[in-house]
Amino acid sequence: MALLPGAAPLVVPRPLPAWVQAAQQAAAEPPKPKIRTGQHQRAPFATYREIANRLSEDVTNAWFKARGGSQGTVAIGVVAALSLMAPADPSGPDLGDEILALNPDELAEMLREIWGFTWFREPFLIERARPLHDWLHEEETDPDLVYAAHKVARAAIQSGLLDVTGHKDPGLRADVDVLSRLVMAMNGIAKRRADGEFHTPEPVCDLMASIIIGDRAIEPGMSLLDPAAGSGQMLRAAASHIRDRGQNPANLHWYANDIDEVAVACCAVNSIVWGLGPNVVIAKADSLAEPDWPTRARSERAEIIAHRNRVFQQATTEAAHRKALRLLTNLTQPQGEAA
Ligand SMILES: C[S@@+](CC[C@H](N)C(=O)[O-])C[C@H]1O[C@@H](n2cnc3c(N)ncnc32)[C@H](O)[C@@H]1O
Repeated sequence: MALLPGAAPLVVPRPLPAWVQAAQQAAAEPPKPKIRTGQHQRAPFATYREIANRLSEDVTNAWFKARGGSQGTVAIGVVAALSLMAPADPSGPDLGDEILALNPDELAEMLREIWGFTWFREPFLIERARPLHDWLHEEETDPDLVYAAHKVARAAIQSGLLDVTGHKDPGLRADVDVLSRLVMAMNGIAKRRADGEFHTPEPVCDLMASIIIGDRAIEPGMSLLDPAAGSGQMLRAAASHIRDRGQNPANLHWYANDIDEVAVACCAVNSIVWGLGPNVVIAKADSLAEPDWPTRARSERAEIIAHRNRVFQQATTEAAHRKALRLLTNLTQPQGEAA
């Protein structure tokens, strides 16, 4: 990880994580029993990292029991999509219970909607995450995969995924890298050895971020680069460190590449989950063979965003045409037949 000269003003003091607040409250008063209607489990006194450890084990078991085989990216993609969700109204119905109530086909439809909706907001990053959601866009989705995805989603929710990722505040979501654990658990030890894919544990990344960034002022135009990013653990630690100092990581320019496309896909999703902001450039690239990959990636990003803008424009125009046609139809209907 390297901090390059240049970048941005500050903001937002970071609140205590929810589990710390819950523990403080529990210490101050005896806990009241919670009345729950569904099966969605919570672990309020486990740290986010403990929840993530258990989750990766439960999800991996669910995947290998339901399906196994070489398409582990489906399982990673299900967790990635769910980690992009936060309840619209925190005091409304329990999102976990709602997901647990879905049947396999409904779940697959919801996953398509999450990727599609997020594509409109973050087209470049969702394109980069393609290996995680490609299977959902095939002409005929494999029912066995849908079945396994459903089992995986249930395992993720029941292990407390939304306790870790379902916060409105990205600062709270950036304490942990759920996808890193999952990539490591799904890839066999042989593949990891061959690819050198051993992600750095969070406490080590946090320490490195505090040493590399330290008290340095984050100034406009600054960039942060990880040329062997994995799922982005170093970026997460840097963003947390910057937030802890009362500054906004979304003001930086972030660059991350890896030779493994699944790692790149996870890094892209993580950068949304952790709120790295609008200036994130990620690519599958070999740092040794293509050191200037950011130039290529920036131009790919511009093309993808331009394409999204055209799709948006077309959808807006079509909606306006349909509205005009409806008005015209109503106006030209004979009296008495108008709705
Ligand atoms: C030890 S992991 C570190 C990942 C992350 N930076 C972290 O600290 O958790 C090394 C990563 O480097 C990637 N890698 C190996 N050789 C590379 C290369 N020539 N260019 C880009 N990435 C590479 C691997 O795919 C792997 O994800």
